[in-house]
Amino acid sequence: MKISRIGLKLGTAFMILFIILLMTLGVAIDQLFSHFFYAQMKEDSQELASHFVSMAKTKDASSTAMINNFAEFSSVQIVWVTENGQVIAHSGKSERQHPFINQKDLNRMFSGQSIDFIYNDSSGHRYYISGKPVVKNQKPQSALYILSSMNKIDDSIRTVRKLLFLSALGAFLVALGMTFIMTKLLSQPLLKMQKVTDRMSKGDWDTRLDIRQKDEMGMLGQSINNLAQSLQRYRDTRQEFFANISHELRTPITYLEGYSKVLTDNLVENEAEKKKYLTIIHQEAIRLQKLVDDLFELSKMEEGKIELTMERLDMKDIILNTLSKVKLKAEQKNIILKTELHQDIPFILGDSYRMEQILLNLLENAIKYTDQGEIIVQLVSENSSLVLSVSDTGQGIPEEELPYIFDRFYRIEKSRSRDYGGTGLGLSIVKKLVDLQGGSIHVESKLDVGTTFTLTFPQHEELESLEGSS
Ligand SMILES: Nc1ncnc2c1ncn2[C@@H]1O[C@H](COP(=O)(O)OP(=O)(O)O)[C@@H](O)[C@H]1O
Ligand SMILES: [Mg+2]
Repeated sequence: MKISRIGLKLGTAFMILFIILLMTLGVAIDQLFSHFFYAQMKEDSQELASHFVSMAKTKDASSTAMINNFAEFSSVQIVWVTENGQVIAHSGKSERQHPFINQKDLNRMFSGQSIDFIYNDSSGHRYYISGKPVVKNQKPQSALYILSSMNKIDDSIRTVRKLLFLSALGAFLVALGMTFIMTKLLSQPLLKMQKVTDRMSKGDWDTRLDIRQKDEMGMLGQSINNLAQSLQRYRDTRQEFFANISHELRTPITYLEGYSKVLTDNLVENEAEKKKYLTIIHQEAIRLQKLVDDLFELSKMEEGKIELTMERLDMKDIILNTLSKVKLKAEQKNIILKTELHQDIPFILGDSYRMEQILLNLLENAIKYTDQGEIIVQLVSENSSLVLSVSDTGQGIPEEELPYIFDRFYRIEKSRSRDYGGTGLGLSIVKKLVDLQGGSIHVESKLDVGTTFTLTFPQHEELESLEGSS
């Protein structure tokens, strides 16, 4: 398993923080308990001392016995001393040494003060000792030491500490586990992304990330997948595009090569044949020119590099102007050109040159792919949009091919359409230009009946308000 560095860093930081927190908390709780126990002990033992002092004041045999009884009853030991440390009486049985008695404490007690201290005896027992003078006639006569065993309290503190330690250990282990899982959850998708993007950078764009999280990590993963998809699409269309271009260029070049070779090798029999070949060469050169022009136009549009001069358009003018350009071609094929231009057409914003280019492409197609009949250009207003249609009575387009005719290089019956000198780029240029001017294009066709291309341009808002005010 690879150790993820970000996980390690995060985990260490988190654990250090946690340990500091646990330790501070542990010490605080320990102090709190110890203080509480000691304070309790001090209070109890001083209270007992006061009690015994008042008993001792009577100082007769019965009071000594009573003190002994009472001491046993309250499980403390009592040592009764004189000013110079001589033991007057003590509870318990045997003669005992009392090493905790010292002159300094005695002096303090006999000057009227109380004392408190903790004492460890030789066998390791701890006692809390309270000392108090027995005052009679405003003068300390003797003093009492009360020894309370600290065994119970020490046991309690030990238990508390043990519990504290165990819960801290438990919390530490849980935190360690959580940190491990959290950092794993955090770093694993990152590692996955790194691997996948690495593969992508080496050209493998088919790989996808499998991240189902819904958080920022998931979003990043989704973005990487989208990026890969775009790159893949880009690669595929680019490959297809180059394949198409080379194919389209190869055909005219083959013609040029072949016929020019025939001519240079003087393989023609007569002038008429020579003229025929030269005409073919000329036509193919024109085709090449058109192909290169179209390609250039298309690539400019795809890179968003063409500039449109948007102005208020007079569509009727543009239609009539374009029709006059194709009139001759139509007459040569005996095709009738008709117009149905309604009044009250909404004004739109557009580029007049590009609009003419669109119309010219559609009309040239209509003439090219119509053998007899008529072509009607219609201009109407529909839902405050301008609707322009070009209908012909030509060969039509098979229904299954309709979705593709706006694709680059797409031609129906490739070999036959070559006779028409097409490049298959005209309609994709048309579609791009329509889109750029905020319009939409739609085609309807029936095989051997005819085709209708319909363009819709919405009325421009500013022009609309101008219209309203005039
Ligand atoms: N009016 C039409 N009638 C029938 N077929 C058409 C018409 N317009 C276009 N097409 C078909 O759509 C294809 C694509 O058109 P276009 O992009 O202009 O390329 P081309 O250079 O071949 O004209 C043409 O090859 C033709 O088969
Ligand atoms: Mg065309």
